[in-house]
Amino acid sequence: MKIKVRVPATSANCGPGFDCIGLALDIYSTLELELKPEPGLDITLTGEGAKYIPTDERNIVWRSIKVLLEKAGMDNLYQGAVITMDNQGPMSRGLGSSATAIVAGLKAANTIIGNPYDRKELLQIATEIEGHPDNVAPAIYGGFTISTVNDLGVECFAFRPKCNLQFVVAVPDFPLPTREARSVLPKMVKMSDAIYNIGRASMMVAALCRGNVRFLKNVFDDKLHQPFRAELIPGMYDVFEAARKAGAVGACLSGAGPSIIAFIDEERDNAERVGEAMRTAFVRHDVKAAILKPHLDTRGAYIVNDPLG
Ligand code: HSE
Repeated sequence: MKIKVRVPATSANCGPGFDCIGLALDIYSTLELELKPEPGLDITLTGEGAKYIPTDERNIVWRSIKVLLEKAGMDNLYQGAVITMDNQGPMSRGLGSSATAIVAGLKAANTIIGNPYDRKELLQIATEIEGHPDNVAPAIYGGFTISTVNDLGVECFAFRPKCNLQFVVAVPDFPLPTREARSVLPKMVKMSDAIYNIGRASMMVAALCRGNVRFLKNVFDDKLHQPFRAELIPGMYDVFEAARKAGAVGACLSGAGPSIIAFIDEERDNAERVGEAMRTAFVRHDVKAAILKPHLDTRGAYIVNDPLG
């Protein structure tokens, strides 16, 4: 059986919601998967970063599939695979490329073996592989997601905002591995900084659920990760400021960066202007950036050729 799955790119943190809040973007990657009883991998990659991704046992899609098969006790039944993946999300730029790959592998393999795991269980497995839930959750559920991790596992609340948002993403021409962007973060934070973020993250969710753009405007600042990552992303604060001045609701790092995402109130129809302002601000710091203008994906990962119809 050959299964095709489509998975959105994602943007995590949304400013103050470090490792908790995320959203899905309508930038789609697709995976076609066939599991084989005999060992051996046949992996074909196209699209973003194709030439940098391993096509052997190290491949993240295959590693995720193996985790799922082992958990389901089916790793003896399926020892090899034919994997064809087209990546449309930029790689190592803060748009959840590894989450997209993990979720694609899990979702497709789960379907082939008869869906033993529901979405919540897939989120649990995906989080164990990725290390944090804020990219894998929106890749699975679509929309905005809030995820919490506790002893019993991962909980995820997925929702659509009540306001019409568009996004502008400035994608710098240099990669920033998440490992590196996490290595600059402190082990301890000040109580006042934690309070600063808790208030804004809570306000962001409330404003999105109510569709209150006025409140949304004041919630993008963060003290837990962006200040430390600024040294890795030349011009970060200037790009935030440029986006705001051009009329964005707010702007923040997308995931661990280096991309910067601006939230746009669709009614203001100013994505073009905001994108140009962000691009120009990056140029002032000698950074070339591509501008994307995605919308929210509200479906999450889904099987394109569902065998059950
Ligand atoms: N929350 C994560 C981080 C997202 O900021 O490090 C990157 O995968």
